[in-house]
Amino acid sequence: MPTRKIEVRLGQNSYDIHVGSGILGETGQMLQELGLSNKAVVVSNPTVWGLYGARLQASLTAAGLTVVILEVPDGEQYKTLESAGKLYGQLAESGAERSTAILALGGGVIGDLAGFVAATYMRGIPLVQLPKTLLAQCDSSIGGKTAVDHGNLKNEIGAFYQPKITIADISVLRTLPQAELTGGLAEVIKYGVIRDEPFFTYLETHLDQIKALDEKALETIVARSAVIKAEIVACDERDMGLRNILNFGHTVGHAVESVSNFQVAHGQAVSIGMVAAAKIAVKLDIMPSEHAVRLIKILAKTGLLTTLPPLEVKDIISKMRFDKKVMHGKIRLVLPRSIGQVFITDDVDTAIVEQVLGEMK
Ligand SMILES: NC(=O)c1ccc[n+]([C@@H]2O[C@H](COP(=O)([O-])OP(=O)(O)OC[C@H]3O[C@@H](n4cnc5c(N)ncnc54)[C@H](O)[C@@H]3O)[C@@H](O)[C@H]2O)c1
Repeated sequence: MPTRKIEVRLGQNSYDIHVGSGILGETGQMLQELGLSNKAVVVSNPTVWGLYGARLQASLTAAGLTVVILEVPDGEQYKTLESAGKLYGQLAESGAERSTAILALGGGVIGDLAGFVAATYMRGIPLVQLPKTLLAQCDSSIGGKTAVDHGNLKNEIGAFYQPKITIADISVLRTLPQAELTGGLAEVIKYGVIRDEPFFTYLETHLDQIKALDEKALETIVARSAVIKAEIVACDERDMGLRNILNFGHTVGHAVESVSNFQVAHGQAVSIGMVAAAKIAVKLDIMPSEHAVRLIKILAKTGLLTTLPPLEVKDIISKMRFDKKVMHGKIRLVLPRSIGQVFITDDVDTAIVEQVLGEMK
């Protein structure tokens, strides 16, 4: 199957995203073509390294690169300044220089952490993203946001830092746990709603193939998601305006995630948030109800939550208030006008949000 190439247009920071099946084995050659042919430091976790490390290492050594492997334990709890600190020390010990590339081999956790380290070690060394989850391929590896968590600050210590290249090998999605795949699909469906009705229709008509991990379907959804995110990021690299539409479903979603003590996974919480936003839009006569029905149907068919688990609505609203998403009784939300079009508003009364969440129980 031919590889698809997506250009992320960011002036001097422009780079390509390659999407295809089996292309992890071409990493060495692609780095050579970019002039990154000196030393490669791979940052990964034991889970992903165990599955894909040998294939990557063979490709890099065949291209004449010296390879150093740095492992971080698996889990969000290791996306910290402490882990970054250990990596800085290991980079120095291994003789990493300004020209040494960091290769992030993993999901969004590794991508964010290794990206942050690449952005800050020696004030910036080349970064290569090798995303291995659906979420990382469609979302977190695109757009240059790198971050660590610190105490209560989730993703708030970080840097905007673009990779030199991103290589998304969709064949690796075969080993992904089902829940991770389902969660990633929430973000994919989000792209259809915020920007691309034909893509949403494609998802409706090809969901069975996607769930069966048909490679052509996976390649299509990863490539299309990457194009949409890349276009949005190209308009607003530093997240000052348009990029906010990527938060569709996330305002309520983050609050649900947090109030549930992270028992509701991110993708599931975003799904609940998207349903809430759609229902609010229908209630306010902004969107015809048929569009909300389509959204709820595809989310449910995907295996995502469309109703609220037993959580207190009041706690969810308080959480949003704490996150400063509520000002003077009004809440900032991304609302759909239709499948394919959304807008940002600061004008929704919390009472409406409360009512809709109450009806979603
Ligand atoms: N930078 C951004 O713009 C951005 C956007 C969204 C999310 N994020 C961040 O991304 C993180 C979540 O990323 P995630 O959902 O990829 O989780 P993750 O990185 O924790 O990966 C999920 C699990 O799947 C395993 N795994 C990864 N690839 C695999 C494969 N191919 N086969 C088998 N197992 C595999 C991982 O080891 C891990 O256990 C969060 O920290 C979040 O804040 C960042």
